[in-house]
Amino acid sequence: MTKLNQSATWKALGEHFEEMSQTHMRDLFEQDSKRFNKFSLKLNDILFDFSKNIIDSNTMELLYGLADECDVSEWIEKMFDGEAINNTENRAVLHTALRNRDGLPVMVDGKDVMPVVREEHIRVRKLAEAIRTRSWRGYLNQPITDVVNIGIGGSHLGPLMVTEALRPYSLHDLNVHFVANVDENHINDTLENLNPATTFFIIASKSFTTQDTMVNAETARQWYINKAGNDEHIDKHFSAVSSNVEAAKAFGINENNIFQMWDWVGGRYSLWSAISLPMVIAIGEENFDKLLQGAYEADLHFRNTPLKENIPINMALLGIWYNNFFDAQTTVVLPYDQHLHKFPAYLQQADMESNGKSVDRQGEVVDYTTGPVLFGEIGIAAQHAFFQLLHQGTKLVPADILAPVSNLHCIARHHRALMSNVFAQAEALMKGKTEQEAYAELKKSGLDEQSIKKLLPNKIFPGNRPTSTFLFNRLDPATLGSLIALYEHKIFVQGIIWNINSYDQWGVELGKQLASGILHELDDNKLTGSHDSSTNGLINYYKMQRSKNECVSVSQKTSN
Ligand code: F6P
Repeated sequence: MTKLNQSATWKALGEHFEEMSQTHMRDLFEQDSKRFNKFSLKLNDILFDFSKNIIDSNTMELLYGLADECDVSEWIEKMFDGEAINNTENRAVLHTALRNRDGLPVMVDGKDVMPVVREEHIRVRKLAEAIRTRSWRGYLNQPITDVVNIGIGGSHLGPLMVTEALRPYSLHDLNVHFVANVDENHINDTLENLNPATTFFIIASKSFTTQDTMVNAETARQWYINKAGNDEHIDKHFSAVSSNVEAAKAFGINENNIFQMWDWVGGRYSLWSAISLPMVIAIGEENFDKLLQGAYEADLHFRNTPLKENIPINMALLGIWYNNFFDAQTTVVLPYDQHLHKFPAYLQQADMESNGKSVDRQGEVVDYTTGPVLFGEIGIAAQHAFFQLLHQGTKLVPADILAPVSNLHCIARHHRALMSNVFAQAEALMKGKTEQEAYAELKKSGLDEQSIKKLLPNKIFPGNRPTSTFLFNRLDPATLGSLIALYEHKIFVQGIIWNINSYDQWGVELGKQLASGILHELDDNKLTGSHDSSTNGLINYYKMQRSKNECVSVSQKTSN
């Protein structure tokens, strides 16, 4: 197997980069009036415009050649067919099975997983509907008013992001809360105003061993028991989602309230599984179905569309172009829809936990860069915060812009004002402002030559900053499902090209292991000397200071 950066296509891309790095998108647009048509694609009502990238047809041909050389199409089939492509854990990667609607079996280790997938979805919907229709009753025979999801990472970010994104589709008299942080403030602030008789907890943890989740879950249970006076009706208030059913049972959750997930669903790809429970409670089964349908349609597009018209493949290749040839270290996601405010946080885990790897599938340390640092923010907020760096900083930060054509409400000129920013920012990032333009502007403002000379360099915008824009009719469940799936597949394709396993996450283990050891050390006030001097110093400072600061524990406080 030829190493990625030794291949002829890679080398050709390197040579082509020399030329393209001297090319300005302004010129590319001037030379080709059909550039938008050439470099935009559609999936249902989602338009993907990638014409504002530093590419020409030659670039894309070379990148498609790279995808072919890396057998992307074969790998897509391997994934959908349930091959154990997560090679370090010997697991299939089948989040696509969770939204599969073709009625055909999906085999894992010789067994069709579709019956259990359907069964678990039915169970989730049943519980969600019981809560939504107020037929699920708490220990005082009252309906549930508040649902608290306790989980972290993939057991938190996906459902939280979707619940926020589909807020207009949610029941208004049912509150869904998300607790992730082991910092007591998170659970304390959440429980503070809740009534245990009308609160329902979901303990969401694939492993059911994650420290943060377990500590929060224990506190929630204690809070409930303290308030209710006993644990007699705990079944009416606690459920769990996990692949570790035994641990959930051992925690005291009734088997009927335990929802299963499987090894072949990665945590950060699990929002389609029973991990969806809080969001199904919020948005209802019909909307959840539409979300799955949207994702399924993106899956069909990904699986069946030739490379050149395939949106996730194009997204992935553009990312590789900037990451590996322009040496861009970051990428930014800018949703211009307030309800997508958790989308960048969700994508951070999806992308960085998947492709933040430096060892290839053969166990060799790679000598090219892999996953970028992904960050993001609501576009409008970002404009007034970090866009300065995007426009005039020294770093190239390729951006994804996402915006809905219309909003649910037509309040005055809000939406047009919003959209004017979408178009203006992408255009400004692409075009920039030349020296002549800046000079003419300053001249027009009446400045004298000396002042112009002083100010001029600051007024020039280099432009040539790439953006890809997604426009969709509105942020409805199906569109959201498609968007999420497109990004999942982009991550997958990049992992294949970089020859890394996007589906393990060994890197997060070290910190976890050390934390559990240190937690024991924090149980007494003896000074430690078993770490490096910085860690010893910090631990010992903490121990000395805490003995001076009285600490009221959550359980003490909530028991009052
Ligand atoms: O620490 C990282 C991680 O393992 C993520 O991959 C995962 O989504 C998160 O922790 C939570 O894990 P669990 O669902 O097993 O509690």
